[in-house]
Amino acid sequence: MAKSDFSGGVPAGEFASMYAEGIPPWQIDRPQAEVLRLIDQGAFVSPVMDIGCGSGDNAIALARSGYRVVGVDAVEEALRRARAKVAREKLAQPPEFVLGDALRLEDSGLEVETILDCALFHTFSDEEQAVYVRGLAEVLAPGGRLHLLCFSELETRPPGPRRLSLAQITGAFGSGWEVVESVRCRYEDRVRPDGAHAWRVTMKKKSS
Ligand SMILES: C[S@@+](CC[C@H](N)C(=O)[O-])C[C@H]1O[C@@H](n2cnc3c(N)ncnc32)[C@H](O)[C@@H]1O
Repeated sequence: MAKSDFSGGVPAGEFASMYAEGIPPWQIDRPQAEVLRLIDQGAFVSPVMDIGCGSGDNAIALARSGYRVVGVDAVEEALRRARAKVAREKLAQPPEFVLGDALRLEDSGLEVETILDCALFHTFSDEEQAVYVRGLAEVLAPGGRLHLLCFSELETRPPGPRRLSLAQITGAFGSGWEVVESVRCRYEDRVRPDGAHAWRVTMKKKSS
């Protein structure tokens, strides 16, 4: 399905350090409530790519529901944690976890019907977002959907990544994409009991 490593030796510096130091703020060791809602709604079609999958809980939740999933992350330690979680379960179709750089998706060999991005997009600069969006379009089938969870401008409390308005998110996607749904939600983390204010935006890649 995917190449076993398309990281290009990416150091993923800050993220690698945060994993090396222990449990990063985003690692809640359970799937995001918003992802479970999407699963309940039948919002995924296999194969699914969970990009920036971290320690794998969302990918594993999808696999439990019968989806074929590949989780991609640039940090080996995140993938080690994800694989350890999978090893503790008996899944008919366990997710595959692959080392890769989200800014090199065109080298991944992946072709997927749905993409989940939980809190990766907002870590990129405007320039990186443009590269990322081109890569997403490379691997996503025509008519396929992207579900994006992203810190919103309503979240004013530290710590965390940059905060984005709905216009900033959708503006990063060109005319090849259609916004299907945008919902105010929470991104659950270890530092805010009520979770971070977030946007969940679902986008469809247009067929032509
Ligand atoms: C904020 S964490 C979110 C992790 C997971 N999606 C979750 O919600 O628990 C962002 C993740 O993206 C990964 N990441 C950062 N830059 C990346 C890149 N260029 N390519 C692939 N993964 C990347 C980090 O290692 C980290 O695991």
